[in-house]
Amino acid sequence: MTSLCAVDLFCGAGGLTRGLLDEGVRVLAGYDLDPACRYPYEHNNGVPFVEQDVSGLDPAEVAGLFPKGVIRTIAGCAPCQPYSNYSRGRKPVYEDRWHLIDAYRRIVEHVRPELATIENVLQLRKHPSYAELVKTLKEWGYHWTEFEVKCRLYGVPQTRTRLVGFASVFGPVELIAPTYCEESRPTVRHIIGRLPSLAAGGVDPHDRLHVASRLAGINLKRIRKSQPGGTWRDWDDDLVAACHKAKTGKTYPSVYGRMEWGKPGPTITTQFYGFGNGRFGHPDQDRGLSLREGALLQTFPPTYEFVPPKEQVHFKRVGRLIGNAVPVLLARAVARSLKGHVEQHGA
Ligand SMILES: C[S@@+](CC[C@H](N)C(=O)[O-])C[C@H]1O[C@@H](n2cnc3c(N)ncnc32)[C@H](O)[C@@H]1O
Repeated sequence: MTSLCAVDLFCGAGGLTRGLLDEGVRVLAGYDLDPACRYPYEHNNGVPFVEQDVSGLDPAEVAGLFPKGVIRTIAGCAPCQPYSNYSRGRKPVYEDRWHLIDAYRRIVEHVRPELATIENVLQLRKHPSYAELVKTLKEWGYHWTEFEVKCRLYGVPQTRTRLVGFASVFGPVELIAPTYCEESRPTVRHIIGRLPSLAAGGVDPHDRLHVASRLAGINLKRIRKSQPGGTWRDWDDDLVAACHKAKTGKTYPSVYGRMEWGKPGPTITTQFYGFGNGRFGHPDQDRGLSLREGALLQTFPPTYEFVPPKEQVHFKRVGRLIGNAVPVLLARAVARSLKGHVEQHGA
């Protein structure tokens, strides 16, 4: 089989790149405008990171990275916040990033790789930029296929469902069959059940990323009263926030919950380390998830590093890197789909 090479646009801390590498796809470079991505991306993957706004990226630079005779792949996971459920009803902070799907399309248009792939939230399909992307890819002769992927059936211990799209000059790319069934899929216990116990605000002396954010006062009382799989509805009345008691608040029961040992966790977001930000309470310890637990639930390897040794660990920064990532096992499924496709077409 001809060697499969990829460039990762919007590469983040390298979830997608890690999965591609694990399946033998050579990744030539990752592009992202967030400088905090450089260390985790390069240190864990040995792939050059380019700090660059993809909307201003010269496609000739990307084209020039590919050696002759390889099968070229452009992978792109543009920021999903504008399309995410989590931003519904809140200030649309990322509204101006919708154009980044167009930036991805522009790179594909000029490079004309043999393969291209995207990963995003399902809501992306409602956006005109997505329709334009698919329409023009087809006009340029690509076969386009897209899948709603239940990540838990590919080994990711989350309820997350994602959109994966493929473009190929060879024919329609099929997603590999699920690697797990509902009975065998990993649970929260499989992934984080053996980590050392921590108190809220505590840190594991052997792993500074196994660190939990502080909880005090009313929030400590709240988590003590929280049940695995439950919500703030389990609390005594005096612990319930005024906004939740109000009529509108009752429609948001998905905050302030504990995860359940025997089930997949919720979708890991950029704020997964905060007990009040979703169902991110530890199943039986009185704290939110540690940064390491979030990374493991995103199926990063246990030794993946996010912060240079001499720098302090910041919850917000590391949470963003972890929560934004494509789960590594989802990326492996994408890579295996592409490799199977190339083999099938004798390329
Ligand atoms: C959903 S995340 C991608 C995650 C990554 N694929 C991974 O697996 O770890 C989107 C990324 O796009 C980056 N980003 C946002 N706007 C950008 C822009 N204009 N140019 C380049 N990167 C951008 C963000 O910094 C973020 O890392």
